[in-house]
Amino acid sequence: MKYSRIIAGTMTWGKWGKQHATKDMISLMNHCIDNNITTFDHADIYGDYTTEEDFGKAFKESGIKRENIQLISKCGIQFHVKERSNRVKHYDYSKDYIISSVERSLKMLQTDYLDMLLLHRPSPLMNPSEVAEAIDKLKNDGKIRQFGVSNFSPSQIQLIEKEIPVEANQVEFSLSANEVMNNGTLDDCITYDRLAMSWSPLGSYFREDSQANTRIKKVLADFTKKYNATEDQLLLAWILKHPSKIHPVVGTATPKRLKMAMDTVSIDMDIQDWFILLEANEGHEVA
Ligand SMILES: NC(=O)c1ccc[n+]([C@@H]2O[C@H](COP(=O)([O-])OP(=O)(O)OC[C@H]3O[C@@H](n4cnc5c(N)ncnc54)[C@H](OP(=O)(O)O)[C@@H]3O)[C@@H](O)[C@H]2O)c1
Repeated sequence: MKYSRIIAGTMTWGKWGKQHATKDMISLMNHCIDNNITTFDHADIYGDYTTEEDFGKAFKESGIKRENIQLISKCGIQFHVKERSNRVKHYDYSKDYIISSVERSLKMLQTDYLDMLLLHRPSPLMNPSEVAEAIDKLKNDGKIRQFGVSNFSPSQIQLIEKEIPVEANQVEFSLSANEVMNNGTLDDCITYDRLAMSWSPLGSYFREDSQANTRIKKVLADFTKKYNATEDQLLLAWILKHPSKIHPVVGTATPKRLKMAMDTVSIDMDIQDWFILLEANEGHEVA
């Protein structure tokens, strides 16, 4: 597999979060690569359409070889921002928009190609043959190497696959948001050999005080000692055990946490511990 098992999500590297200066972004990129995190996840919209550009500037200055990293980006969400004449937030999967969005991402990222392009969210108005025409052209022109989707259900993937193969699905998956392992989405990835990626892999644990998170905290208090691992590592180890060989897209922009995320790959959580955590999240044992 050419993508690193842990993928660095860049959503909060720029304007939507840490607002890293170019030199800090360069050192974060090098830190990722030194820890075998070579895949970076982008979207045109991150930072209100500014983070790809910030990353691209850092990438250019870093001297990192293009072939040593993989760049994923997404298209389709049209925000209601000052620079665009949109009257409403919407999705656009017209052929011209997909192509122009990718060309813009390439320019911002200062690269000739994306390793993977994802359609960011399904649209009720997407037309598979139009999507396929755009993707075929981008592939033939060498501007994208692989094509996938994000937040798509198996039937929405089937719709696109009427015209063109879908190689990946990036979905929300964590202990606290685990619907995709029960609604067929991850089964679809296994069945059809799609690269499964999970966004927000830590779920609500560090964001919300809920009864479920209180129960999980209690369990993790024991497991951190048993596995000699931190809470965030155990939450990642939980999703890594899923047979879809999930690739977590981690959102941390903290160097130490990025290294710890990669170290998680070697944790093999015991099957009963996995179900103890599931039970803590759900509030009841499995049927
Ligand atoms: N395809 C989609 O629709 C979609 C949607 C959303 C996101 N994404 C992608 O997924 C990536 C990850 O999303 P996410 O940011 O929600 O993922 P996440 O990895 O679940 O959460 C990351 C957040 O958790 C914090 N954190 C990590 N460890 C912590 C700890 N031990 N204690 C307290 N806080 C901790 C991080 O803070 P620090 O940064 O301070 O460490 C960061 O704010 C994004 O960057 C983006 O690339 C995709």
